[in-house]
Amino acid sequence: MKTLRRCTPIVLNVGQHELYSSSLGHVSVAQPKHSSIPDHSASSLSNDETFVPSKINYSRFINKLSSKRSASLLREICSKLDHLPPTCIKFAIGVPNVLTFPFKKVSVELITGESIELQGEELSIALQYLPSQGYRPLINILQKLQDSFHGPQNWENRAIMVTSGTQDALSKAVDMLMSFNDPVLLPDPIYSGAIDLFKPYDVEIITMKQDSSGIIVEDVKKVLMERKEKMQSIPKVIYLNPIASNPGGTTLTTNRKREIYQLACEYNMLILEDDPYYYLNFGQKNPVSLMSMDIEGRVLRFDSFSKIMSSGLRVGFVTGPKMLVRQMELHMQTSSINASSLSQMLLYKLLSKWGIDGFTSHTMQVKKFYQQKRDHTMQAVEKELKGLAEWYEPTGGMFLWLKIIGLNDTKPLVTSRCLKKLVVLAPGYAFATNYTNSSPYVRISYSIATQEEIDRGISLLAESIREELKLI
Ligand SMILES: Cc1ncc(COP(=O)(O)O)c(C=O)c1O
Repeated sequence: MKTLRRCTPIVLNVGQHELYSSSLGHVSVAQPKHSSIPDHSASSLSNDETFVPSKINYSRFINKLSSKRSASLLREICSKLDHLPPTCIKFAIGVPNVLTFPFKKVSVELITGESIELQGEELSIALQYLPSQGYRPLINILQKLQDSFHGPQNWENRAIMVTSGTQDALSKAVDMLMSFNDPVLLPDPIYSGAIDLFKPYDVEIITMKQDSSGIIVEDVKKVLMERKEKMQSIPKVIYLNPIASNPGGTTLTTNRKREIYQLACEYNMLILEDDPYYYLNFGQKNPVSLMSMDIEGRVLRFDSFSKIMSSGLRVGFVTGPKMLVRQMELHMQTSSINASSLSQMLLYKLLSKWGIDGFTSHTMQVKKFYQQKRDHTMQAVEKELKGLAEWYEPTGGMFLWLKIIGLNDTKPLVTSRCLKKLVVLAPGYAFATNYTNSSPYVRISYSIATQEEIDRGISLLAESIREELKLI
């Protein structure tokens, strides 16, 4: 049993607007209370250690553009409507009338044979704009999900916003945090959709090298210490894709996560925990997240339904300090307004039907599916690529990251030789923090290939590597 730690509630004006108030307010914070970093895991979820806000001044993290965002008056009114009695006459709202829409019923059949039906009031909600933060009943379920997988959270201080996939949330976070030429700590290799968000800010990329256990923290410590000694600016942000990473397939150990979190506290940094493969980790236990260690309000966590429900629904969500999530919500108010209402309603219906147990058993099935694919891929790779390539066995997810022995640049192999044999791979340079680098790596995604395709594809890759090596 963990020591119980009671939280002093953070006093937030943000997000607690009266109708027609658009001031952003300020964050008033309590004293730091942590002496140790909690370690929530699936086996220790009954404790209530949670986010105790410290003296973080979030203005360090909010760039000039973002700080100029103010609440959209009409979106604010919209978000308050749920709290008003149904007899209220809504003259202020410029939304279309759902009676004019051509849909009478939305019916979805599940693979279990069960169905979800939307009609009447629920259909009206699904066909209409929503508050930018998301559909409140769905957010309530997502809070329970986070509580059960990451330990009970203090929802006085933390908030969730539903987004159009994780990518949408990541892009809003980067656009809030980064200023031109800022230094930033990024893993190499990195998810290409992340590096593409940072690059336009001409950031100074400080790369974090990885081994089979994820980011090598000692290197990060050294870099930060040196920068401090030389009075160079300290990065505000560390981006991590900690579990079954894309493209590396590696998982950051809990100890390393703890060390990274400590560094974030010591150097006043925020952590972007991009974790779409959390439910696809092949380990026995649920991994410990950085958010579950976050006692100071330094982690923005990004979850996705893309890999476990449907990538086409385009639903993900960000969980983090209320003030930061609210700032991202202001961006949502003026960009896509809200993540798809229909998708949110479908997910709400499904998750309320399943409960946490049903959700867990579904994700276990998905995990098993990819684990079998991984196992088959590993057999093929052991048979065909020994001596031609090096790899770490993927710890989850859908990617195998191969280093081709004897090739400095896999571009010709991928874009010409393999392509001619109709084998399409992702070249390593696409995941480098510096696009101009040549890379000896290729990424294989085993998610959609059949067993026969995996066997044939890996065999053709081996043949292509041999041909390519003869040319050198
Ligand atoms: C590491 C990582 N982050 C984010 C995303 C984007 O996911 P979503 O579909 O939720 O936008 C992906 C998708 O491949 C990914 O691999």
